[in-house]
Amino acid sequence: MEQQLGGKTAIVTGAGRGIGKAVALRLADEGANVVVADINAQTANQTAEEIRTRGHNASACQLDVVKVTEIQAMVDSAVAQFDRIDILVNAAGVAQTGLFLELTEEQWNRVIDINLKGTTFCVQAVGRRMIRQLPVKVTEAGRAERSYGKIVNFSSISGRSGRAMQLAYAASKAAVISVTQSAALVFAPYNINVNAVCPGVIPTAMWEQIDRDRGRISGLAEGESMKSFIERIPLKRAGTVEDVAGVTAFLCLPDSDYMTGQVLNVDGGFEMY
Ligand SMILES: NC(=O)c1ccc[n+]([C@@H]2O[C@H](COP(=O)([O-])OP(=O)(O)OC[C@H]3O[C@@H](n4cnc5c(N)ncnc54)[C@H](O)[C@@H]3O)[C@@H](O)[C@H]2O)c1
Repeated sequence: MEQQLGGKTAIVTGAGRGIGKAVALRLADEGANVVVADINAQTANQTAEEIRTRGHNASACQLDVVKVTEIQAMVDSAVAQFDRIDILVNAAGVAQTGLFLELTEEQWNRVIDINLKGTTFCVQAVGRRMIRQLPVKVTEAGRAERSYGKIVNFSSISGRSGRAMQLAYAASKAAVISVTQSAALVFAPYNINVNAVCPGVIPTAMWEQIDRDRGRISGLAEGESMKSFIERIPLKRAGTVEDVAGVTAFLCLPDSDYMTGQVLNVDGGFEMY
């Protein structure tokens, strides 16, 4: 198969496990050099090693997305290693499940910091670098026939409608949609595309925790909460990390060059707008 991302470099945050890891593997299979960024250095190293054993280039980077200085250090290191950055996927995120009336300031700050501030400042730092890489002719013309950078943010179907047990998480993910739309406008003159994906129920460590927390609050046995969500999915199954990685890869490939500011649900039809 032709490797459409050959010679390109992608940064994937939250790539130590779960959906971010599947995205990192998929982009590597498409030919990209991948910077595997995660707060967990051990899992970041494992993903990078897995990519290298598949015969592709990868490096691991320990990153806390809440720390703007660490984001800049990651960008500088990626450029030092691979010369340029063409793709950013912001998959790092945390969930928080509980009753709103018991939500603490600390819980709110953590979710908003990681999901919203982290995503926003990764977009800023990588976007600045992408602009610096633009050929002069493109800057002067203010338009181009192709994309000069792809950014994909992770929202959620929780960002599409309210969640009684995930108020802070849903708020952070709704705000990620807003950041995606605003950033799409900011970067459109540079031919850099910014889009978002909204996964539905994807059984990862994150969803296992959500299931346990919802179960504890509602008095449901383990697995029951996830099951009740899956029953409401028109396609009648949970998604896989590969389902999400495939749509994310599409948003990083030339096939999506004419899309920006868009938000794609990857949820088996759970949400339909
Ligand atoms: N699993 C789902 O069903 C689902 C649904 C909707 C949206 N999402 C979103 O998809 C993304 C990936 O979810 P997942 O299910 O793979 O979760 P996960 O918990 O399995 O993986 C998240 C990764 O992010 C990393 N991370 C957490 N905090 C970080 C920080 N401060 N800096 C850097 N890395 C950090 C973790 O170490 C972990 O490797 C998240 O943004 C999540 O909100 C997931």
